[in-house]
Amino acid sequence: MKVGLIGYGKAGSAVAQVLSEDPRYALQWIATRSGKPVSVELGGASIPVTALSQDSLPAWLDQHPVDALVDFSNAASAAIYGEEVKRRGLTLVTAISSYDDDQLARIRALGAHAKVLCSPNITVGINFLIMAARLLREIAPFADVEILEQHFRDKPEVSGTAKKIAESLDVGGDKITSMRLGGIVGHHEVIFGFPYQTVRLIHDSIKREAFGTGAAFALNELRNCPNGFYTFDDVLMKRVRAQILAGGAH
Ligand SMILES: NC(=O)c1ccc[n+]([C@@H]2O[C@H](COP(=O)([O-])OP(=O)(O)OC[C@H]3O[C@@H](n4cnc5c(N)ncnc54)[C@H](OP(=O)(O)O)[C@@H]3O)[C@@H](O)[C@H]2O)c1
Repeated sequence: MKVGLIGYGKAGSAVAQVLSEDPRYALQWIATRSGKPVSVELGGASIPVTALSQDSLPAWLDQHPVDALVDFSNAASAAIYGEEVKRRGLTLVTAISSYDDDQLARIRALGAHAKVLCSPNITVGINFLIMAARLLREIAPFADVEILEQHFRDKPEVSGTAKKIAESLDVGGDKITSMRLGGIVGHHEVIFGFPYQTVRLIHDSIKREAFGTGAAFALNELRNCPNGFYTFDDVLMKRVRAQILAGGAH
């Protein structure tokens, strides 16, 4: 699958590395706001970098066609490439977490013309943790639930992921404990207190490359989906359902 990556900052550069090492994908180009750097060396190839602009994008896509776009830039970019996603039916995986309601509605609407996945949290691990925690909450609603998040010393706010976990388990923010320690990249733990046992679900972020693994997973899962708007949850659940059905057949 030929892929164009939008954004080459802290996250985008790690994502580019992962995509360039994955034999399922051929990273064709990168787009940034400034068009810099001019090119990047990845996986033994020189990948061209362009400045994302509404005027030049159609010609750029004609010359450098792709099957999918992966967006790790910012919320404004979708207005620039949206029309081309629609016109060319490009698969879109966007990791932008800061869309306002209007922007999100426009991304959603692209699902009528293409396969679109939008995930403010794109690691396989965190999405799996949330899914497993929800399942356990459903099975054992009587268990006490606490959420622990640990991050680097200078992170000021409560982790958005921890808030999302709390929301998905239907518990209040008062169940979140935050610790700020040294250089921890990201630790999320959901603790279920049963009467005679304790279950802990733990996710540790190690490197930003995990975002690339998530984007690659999402692109692959979308291959078998019809056009539409998807969340990471949707594609993960599809896989789990298929696994359960396959297990039931044995
Ligand atoms: N869903 C997730 O799990 C997840 C994880 C990590 C990051 N993200 C999201 O990814 C985005 C990038 O994060 P980051 O930490 O990598 O930021 P960053 O280091 O500031 O990098 C941003 C990159 O996007 C480019 N960019 C900005 N506006 C653009 C535009 N209008 N058109 C094209 N390119 C544009 C920048 O280009 P210039 O350098 O030329 O300005 C730069 O390459 C953020 O929205 C963040 O929320 C999501």
